[in-house]
Amino acid sequence: MNKKLSNGVLMPTFGLGTFLVEAGDKTYETVLHALKTGYRHIDTAQMYRNEHSVGDAIKDSGIPRQEIFITTKQRGHSTPENMRKQFMESLEKLKTDYVDLYLIHWPNHDKKVNQTTWALFEALYKEGKVRAIGVSNFQKHHIIDLYETATIKPMVNQVELHPGLSQIPLQAFLDHEGIATMSYGPFMKGGIFEGIWAEGLSKIATLHQCTIPQVVIAWGLVRDILMIPKSVTPARIEENYQAQFITLSDVEIKTINELNRGKRVYTDPDNSPWGPYQP
Ligand SMILES: NC(=O)c1ccc[n+]([C@@H]2O[C@H](COP(=O)([O-])OP(=O)(O)OC[C@H]3O[C@@H](n4cnc5c(N)ncnc54)[C@H](OP(=O)(O)O)[C@@H]3O)[C@@H](O)[C@H]2O)c1
Repeated sequence: MNKKLSNGVLMPTFGLGTFLVEAGDKTYETVLHALKTGYRHIDTAQMYRNEHSVGDAIKDSGIPRQEIFITTKQRGHSTPENMRKQFMESLEKLKTDYVDLYLIHWPNHDKKVNQTTWALFEALYKEGKVRAIGVSNFQKHHIIDLYETATIKPMVNQVELHPGLSQIPLQAFLDHEGIATMSYGPFMKGGIFEGIWAEGLSKIATLHQCTIPQVVIAWGLVRDILMIPKSVTPARIEENYQAQFITLSDVEIKTINELNRGKRVYTDPDNSPWGPYQP
């Protein structure tokens, strides 16, 4: 299934994450297996250092480039010249002449740095080098600050989102702004298999004769959230793919939404390695 982004670009709602997938054979085999299974969206990043292996797998898959949606991310926090150079390196590694979705990986603590990065993203978009542009780990206030100088709104925001951190208020803001919400870390670093989450999710999984990860993926997709679970295990890659075909009821969605505890298992964007945010 596809989601139409605010600029009309169609983006697969389901894809493969590749964070912490080792470059070389591991990434190559994982991406190739996902593509064979039917995945048509691969999420990578400059910081994952595996773009070249993603590019090799896509090239060797025999699937036409235009049928695969590639998301990658810019480290940012540098001069426009450096960031443009880094973008060109990503293209080279991915063995393509365009990226489908380009994201600012993390907000800087200084809004002016984010604004400078965004200006470069707008330029790349206007030059046709990227089909869509967006942000990652941006809270509402980061986006509002970006608007001070932006001429194009981000099309996507990729954030930590799972049953422990359902991000309902952020998603409502993003919906209002026409920005698609994308989840990362859907399995809470294993937290979905523990405590109240395991208890609540396993009841639903039993009813649907499926697994807990599949329930989580289906929950995200019903909420109109772009989902990119990561696995290097062939059977799990296939299992996660099948979750797209599970339909949850409104009551089940509500039950999972109520498992929200505002629990972050990844870095807090307001206190990232780039320091506390100071508007
Ligand atoms: N923008 C950002 O700052 C940011 C941050 C983090 C992640 N991301 C993106 O989001 C993607 C997903 O997040 P993530 O990789 O952090 O975590 P995740 O997808 O929530 O979880 C991955 C872990 O779950 C396991 N797993 C996958 N499918 C499973 C299944 N069906 N049953 C049991 N275990 C399963 C994987 O094990 P195996 O691999 O061993 O099978 C791996 O240990 C990343 O790969 C990356 O592309 C973005």
